[in-house]
Amino acid sequence: MSTTVITGANRGIGLELARQCIQRGDNVVAGCRKPDEAQELKELKPNLILPIDVGDENSVLSFSEAIDGHVNLLINNAGTSITNLGFARDEVGVMNAPVALTLDLIRINGLSAATVTRSLSDRLGSGSKVANITSQIGSMVVGSNFNDLPYAASKAVMNMVTVQLAAQLEASGVAVVAFHPGWVRTDMGGSSADISVEESAQGILSTLETFQLEQSGAFLRWDGSIHPW
Ligand SMILES: NC(=O)c1ccc[n+]([C@@H]2O[C@H](COP(=O)([O-])OP(=O)(O)OC[C@H]3O[C@@H](n4cnc5c(N)ncnc54)[C@H](OP(=O)(O)O)[C@@H]3O)[C@@H](O)[C@H]2O)c1
Repeated sequence: MSTTVITGANRGIGLELARQCIQRGDNVVAGCRKPDEAQELKELKPNLILPIDVGDENSVLSFSEAIDGHVNLLINNAGTSITNLGFARDEVGVMNAPVALTLDLIRINGLSAATVTRSLSDRLGSGSKVANITSQIGSMVVGSNFNDLPYAASKAVMNMVTVQLAAQLEASGVAVVAFHPGWVRTDMGGSSADISVEESAQGILSTLETFQLEQSGAFLRWDGSIHPW
């Protein structure tokens, strides 16, 4: 049975990824900050629900130590926004974004893809795939007009982590990909966003099914099309 590890699996895109992976028969290890409060996730009955705060290295290590065996698919999905950290858009442009907030977002949204992946590296092997849920805002092309430096910088870091992981893990046969999941109707995306969690998760998972090692290091949209860096 193939093991799929998903972070931020208690709501939004992560919850729907967990639902679809469980439906297709994966052995799902679902990570979230507060398993006791993850009611919707518990109802899906994943094989394991483990606590993880992706911004805390000790928490990441405890999480990975509790996962046994080969991991076929790791989805680094957990992420946050300036709103969640108590800031408004007019406080976070390149001319005024607080440095501490910007570094927090980079740690949680960007570097976590490196810390989580390397903590599981001895359980990733030939045929494994790592999917980093980034954002189009991390693209130099799209992000230049988005006046939220912490979020844009954090996803640009995730994109760099993606290509560096792809280079480092190629010899082990592990393919790494960054996905823009679309503008998705979640707490983060808001109710007027373009697509549903079902469409986003279905696109990501079907794209991953045919994703090959030769494509490792790609930046894709949820529908499998190539996103510009
Ligand atoms: N929705 C969109 O339009 C959109 C667009 C582009 C990219 N994305 C990306 O897609 C991913 C999922 O977003 P979403 O729309 O599903 O957002 P969401 O509904 O706000 O869910 C975010 C998830 O990440 C978890 N999380 C936040 N900080 C965490 C931390 N430090 N440690 C562990 N888990 C943490 C949250 O857990 P708690 O419940 O504990 O907070 C929640 O499970 C994110 O990486 C986001 O940046 C979303």
